[in-house]
Amino acid sequence: MATILIDHDDTVVTLTLNRPEKLNALNAELLGELAAAINALPTDASVRCVIMTGAGEKAFAAGADIVAMSEFTPVQAKAFADLGHGIGRALEQLPVPVIAAVNGYALGGGCELALACDFIYASDRAKLSQPEVNLGVIPGFGGTQRLARRVGEARARELCMTGDTLTADEALRIGWVNAVVPAAELLPKVREVARKIASKGPLAIAALKRVIARGADVPLATANELEATAFAALFGTHDQREGMRAFAEKRPAKFEGR
Ligand code: COA
Repeated sequence: MATILIDHDDTVVTLTLNRPEKLNALNAELLGELAAAINALPTDASVRCVIMTGAGEKAFAAGADIVAMSEFTPVQAKAFADLGHGIGRALEQLPVPVIAAVNGYALGGGCELALACDFIYASDRAKLSQPEVNLGVIPGFGGTQRLARRVGEARARELCMTGDTLTADEALRIGWVNAVVPAAELLPKVREVARKIASKGPLAIAALKRVIARGADVPLATANELEATAFAALFGTHDQREGMRAFAEKRPAKFEGR
């Protein structure tokens, strides 16, 4: 059985983590298939937004596979962490946004995958945590860094050190997730947001994603320079001319990604 399901509907691709009998726990097979699926996404305008979610009613992903990890040597653990980090990087480097639709447990590595997406929508049944300290380890797929950037360092320290589990509403309050939606409405709602993003100029969306991500890692003046340069470059595109002409002509713009 494929551990990643891929659905391409118009310009929105949904990637579903698919080991529901193990609450979509992340083993090397699933992570390998996920990396391959991300790398195989078409780079033309046929994909304008990606959704990541979990199969079944209970989980987005209940963490890295503890059974698989339990006998790791340090060398194997490093390779496993590198696999997870590679996926986080690949998600961040995609030119299109990735929305995590967290439909249940997002624990440990599951949470870290969601954090590597552009933003998270959660079902009202979702539960989020970085519980690695309960197992005598720490997050290994970027949680210590991305959670701090998302919710602030002090909260991230507390969440990672206590391993506390938050409800979707609690996660919403601290900005871990952007919205909480009744479980049955989660995917329709996320698809609606994805389609809205897909209707915008893809070059502008790609530039936004790049500038926000790179800007977070450099001094403000350098980040602002990145923004100004990316802003200027868009004025060499068809989509900028089309977007501004459509405004003047009071009609919807038809963006082509060029
Ligand atoms: N790794 C491996 N297997 C996992 C898993 C994980 N992270 N999370 C769940 N599973 C497996 C369970 O072992 C169980 O398998 P089994 O049916 O062969 O026994 C199956 O998924 C269903 O989980 P179960 O524990 O029966 O569901 P539950 O509703 O009683 O509990 C959780 C749900 C999420 C509270 C519980 O599964 C759990 O604590 N998981 C581990 C969470 C964790 O520490 N993740 C971080 C890892 S770094």
